Amino acid sequence: MALKSNSPIKSEGWKTLEELSKLNFNIQSLFEENPNRFEDFSIRFDDFLIDFSKNLIDENVLNQLLELATHADLKNAIQQYFSGEAINETENRSVLHTALRSTKDNSAKVDGQNVHSDIQKVLDKIKNFSDQINSGNRTSFTGQNFTDVVNIGIGGSDLGPQMVVDALKYYQKDITPHFISNVDGDHVMETIKDLNPETTLFVIVSKSFTTQETLSNANTVRNWFLKCAKKEDVKHNFVAVSTNIEAVEEFGIDKNNIFPMYDWVGGRFSLWSAAGLSIAVSLGSKQFQELLVGAESMDLHFKNSDFRSNIPVILALISIWYNNFLNAESEAVIPYTQYLQKLAPYLQQASMESNGKSVDRSGAKVNYQTGNIVWGEPGTNSQHAFFQLIHQGTKLIPADFIGFKSSLNGNQKHHDILMANYFAQTEALMKGKTKDEVHAELKDSNLNSEQIQKLVPFKVFEGNKPTNSILIDKLTPNSLGKLIAMYEHKIFVQGVIWNIFSYDQWGVELGKQLAKNTLKDITSTKIENEHDSSTTNLIKAYKS
Ligand code: F6P
Repeated sequence: MALKSNSPIKSEGWKTLEELSKLNFNIQSLFEENPNRFEDFSIRFDDFLIDFSKNLIDENVLNQLLELATHADLKNAIQQYFSGEAINETENRSVLHTALRSTKDNSAKVDGQNVHSDIQKVLDKIKNFSDQINSGNRTSFTGQNFTDVVNIGIGGSDLGPQMVVDALKYYQKDITPHFISNVDGDHVMETIKDLNPETTLFVIVSKSFTTQETLSNANTVRNWFLKCAKKEDVKHNFVAVSTNIEAVEEFGIDKNNIFPMYDWVGGRFSLWSAAGLSIAVSLGSKQFQELLVGAESMDLHFKNSDFRSNIPVILALISIWYNNFLNAESEAVIPYTQYLQKLAPYLQQASMESNGKSVDRSGAKVNYQTGNIVWGEPGTNSQHAFFQLIHQGTKLIPADFIGFKSSLNGNQKHHDILMANYFAQTEALMKGKTKDEVHAELKDSNLNSEQIQKLVPFKVFEGNKPTNSILIDKLTPNSLGKLIAMYEHKIFVQGVIWNIFSYDQWGVELGKQLAKNTLKDITSTKIENEHDSSTTNLIKAYKS
C-alpha cells in the first residue's frame, strides 16, 4: 500500500495556521498567561526531558498542527513505515531501518518475506567478528592484534558511524577508529600516513559498491597496503559491507569477509546495520547492542504514543510551524557536549537528503516550503561564533539545545559552567533585554546620558527567540540511540506531512553521473562533452 498523497495546504489546519501566524506570539506572555506552561509543553520519556515551552506556540497552534498530522494520515503512515510497506515508492523499496533494532515486534516484511532472521544472522556476524577482533582471536596478516580500524565510505556509509564513534569515544576499546570519505587524495594520505598496515583493519562500506569516491579510496588504500603485503593477505585486513556482493568479490575481498546490507535500509539510516561495523569494532559489540536497544525504545515511544505526547511528532510539528508559517529559513542544533560535534553534519544528510524535495507524492511541484536547512556546532564554542546572529540578527532561527545532567569524565566544576551556559542561553534568547534594562545597566557606567542614549539601540535584544531544550541524563550508547532515532522519526513525520518522498535522493545521483563525464574531459586531451562556456574555460585553465 502506498502512502496517501494529500496536499497539506488543503487541510483546515493549514488555513487556520496561516491566520494564526499573523498573531504576534510572545513567549514570555504565554508563560504569564499559563502558569502550567512548562508541564503542558514538555514531555518526559525515560532519561529524556523535552521542554518545548519556549516556543512561539499555544495550545491552539499545537492543535492545528496536530490537524495537519491527521490530514496526512500520519497514524497509518507510521504503521506502513514499521511494517515494511514500500513507502520509498520511486525506488519501490521498504524503509526498514527500524527493523534492524527491533526485538519486540518482529513482524516486518519485505515482499511478503519476514526479514527478522536475516537481520539476526547479520547481527550475529557483526558480534562475532568484532568480539574476535577485540579479544585478539582474529589477527592481521602478520598475526598481530589490530590497533586501528579505517572505515572507507561516504555519505550514509560514513557520517553515521563516524558521528557515533566520536560521540561515544569515552566508551572506546583498544582499537582506534579512522574515517576516509572524501575522494580528496590528501584526506586519504593524511589518514593513512601514520598507520601501520600490519595492524590496521580496513572496512569498505558502500551499499551500492559503485560509489566513485569510495572505490577510488579503497583502491588507493589497497595499493598502499600491497606495498608491504601480498595479494592473499588482503583477506586478513580488508572486509566490506555492501548489497553488491559480486562487485565486492571482484574487488578481491574474501566471501567470508562480506557483511550484507539490504536495499530496504537507506544509506543515511544504515548505521544500525552492518554499515555500523566500525562502531562495533571500536566500541565493542555490547555498546553497539546498547545503541540499538536505545533506538528501539524511541521507536516504541514513537509508534505507540499519542501524538500530543509523542516526541518526534511534536518536534516535527514545531519545525513545520516555523518553516511553513513563520518563514524560518533554517534551524540549529546545539549540543552542549563536545562529544556530539559531528551531530550536525550527520543530521544534515539525514534531514536534507531526505526532505530536500520539491515534487509531492503525486508528482506535482509543491507550492509550499519543504526540507529545513539544518546546521549547528557544540555550545559553548558556538556562542562565540554564530550566536550573535541568532540573538540580534534579522533571521528567525529556532534551535534545539541538547544537554546532559552528568558529564562523562566527572569534572563537575566544568560541567556546571557548561550547563549554566546551556540554561542561560535559552533564557536569554527568550527574554532578550529591554531598553529599560539597558538603561539601568549603563546608569552606573562613566557614560553621560547622551552617550547612553546613543548606545541603547545596539544593546537591546528583542528576545522571543524559540528553542527546544532536550535534557538527557547522560550520554550513553543507549541515550544516543534514542536521540538519533528521535531525529530519524522527526524527519519521517515532516516528509509525510509535506507529502513528499523522503527516502530517495535523485538529486545526488545526478551529481554522480555528471562527475564521471567531466572526469573524462579532464583526463583526456580533448574536451568532448558539451559544457557552458564558464565550465569549459575553467576546465581548460585546470589543464593548462
Ligand atoms: O549521497 C548519496 C548517497 O547515495 C547516499 O544516500 C549514500 O549514503 C552515499 O551516497 C553512499 O552510497 P554507497 O553506500 O552506495 O557508497
